Amino acid sequence: MSQVQDRLFAGKVALVTGGGTGIGKGIAKELAARGAHVIIASRSLENLTPAVAEVTAQGGSIEAHIMDVRNTDQIEALLKTVKQTRRGIDFLVNNAAGNFLVPTRKLSYNGWKTVIDIVLNGTFYCTKVFGEDMIERGEGGKIINIVATYAWHGSPGVVHSAAAKAGVVALTRSLAVEWAPYDLQINAIAPGPIEGTGGQERLFPDEVVEAVRQSIPAKRLGQTSEVGKAAAFLLSPDASFITGEVLTMDGGAWLGKGMLERFAEMPTFRKGTP
Ligand code: COA
Ligand code: NAP
Repeated sequence: MSQVQDRLFAGKVALVTGGGTGIGKGIAKELAARGAHVIIASRSLENLTPAVAEVTAQGGSIEAHIMDVRNTDQIEALLKTVKQTRRGIDFLVNNAAGNFLVPTRKLSYNGWKTVIDIVLNGTFYCTKVFGEDMIERGEGGKIINIVATYAWHGSPGVVHSAAAKAGVVALTRSLAVEWAPYDLQINAIAPGPIEGTGGQERLFPDEVVEAVRQSIPAKRLGQTSEVGKAAAFLLSPDASFITGEVLTMDGGAWLGKGMLERFAEMPTFRKGTP
C-alpha cells in the first residue's frame, strides 16, 4: 500500500469479507489508503492478523473480526459490534470464497453444498444483513461482489464455483434495481487470474499458472492492487450512477477465447499484413 494518499473515503467504514488475504487484502489496503476505516472478517485470525499489521504500519485504520459468511448469527453479531462504535457499514465488499478444482464426477454433494454456501449464500447473508442496515439508516451505501468470468462462460473443474458466481451476478443485478431507490449501488468485479492469491496459489501448480499467463492476451496475471483500485473507483462518488454492472478485469482473457484467438498472435497479423 502506498502511504495514506488522499482522504476520499475519510469517515467511511468498509467491510471486506475474506480481507486478510489475496484480493480481499488488496482491496482492504487500497480503501485504507484512501482514508476508510476498514473491517476485515473471515474464519481465521491467522489470515487476518498479518493484514491488520500491514495496513496499520502504513498508516491505515483497520480492525479484524472472526466471521464465517455461512453463519448468520456471526454476521448479525458483527453488525451489532460495529454499531457500538460507528454508524454502520458504508461499503460492503463480498469477497470471501471457497473453491477447489475437481472433476464434477468426483464432486460430493457436500463439496457442492460447501462452495454454494460460502459463495452464493454467504454473499446473500452479508448483503441482507448489512444492506438492510444501510437502508434503515437512510444514508445510502455501496456493495461490491467479487465474481469471476466463468460466471457467464462456465468452466470445467469448478462447476460449484461457476454456478455460485453466476448466482451472485444475478443477485447483483436484482438488488441493483430493487435497492436503487434507497441510494444503494451494487456492482460486481470479475477478476481474471490474479497473482499472489489463494485463487492461484492454492488451486494451481506453477506450470498451470504459467500456461494461464500465456493464454492471457496481456501476457500477465493481474495484481491485487489493481483489483483494489477498481473497487475504490466503484465505491467513489465518480461511480455514483453505476449500478448492477460487472467490471471485468482480466487482461482480455475471456474475450480472447474467440475463434481467431490464435490468429491475433501470428507474426503476419502483428505486422499488419494478415
Ligand atoms: N476435491 C474434492 N472435494 C473437496 C476438496 C477437493 N480438493 N476439498 C474439499 N472437498 C470436499 C470435502 O471432501 C467435503 O465433502 P465431503 O464431506 O463429501 O467429503 C466438502 O468439500 C467440504 O470440505 P471441508 O474441508 O469440510 O470444508 P470447509 O468448510 O472446512 O472448507 C473449502 C471449505 C473446502 C472451500 C476450503 O478449500 C477452504 O476453506 N477454502 C477457502 C480458501 C479458498 O478456497 N480460496 C480460493 C478462493 S477462489
Ligand atoms: P484467497 O486468498 O484464498 O481468499 C479467500 C478469503 O476468503 C480468505 O481470506 C478466507 O479466509 C476467506 N474465506 C473463505 N471461506 C470463508 C468463510 N466461510 N467465511 C469468511 N471468510 C471466508 O482467495 P482469492 O484468490 O484472493 O479470492 C478472492 C475472491 O476473488 C474470491 O471471491 C474469488 O472467487 C475471486 N476470484 C479470484 C481470482 C484469482 O485469480 N485469485 C480470479 C477470479 C475471482 P479464512 O480462511 O480466514 O476464512
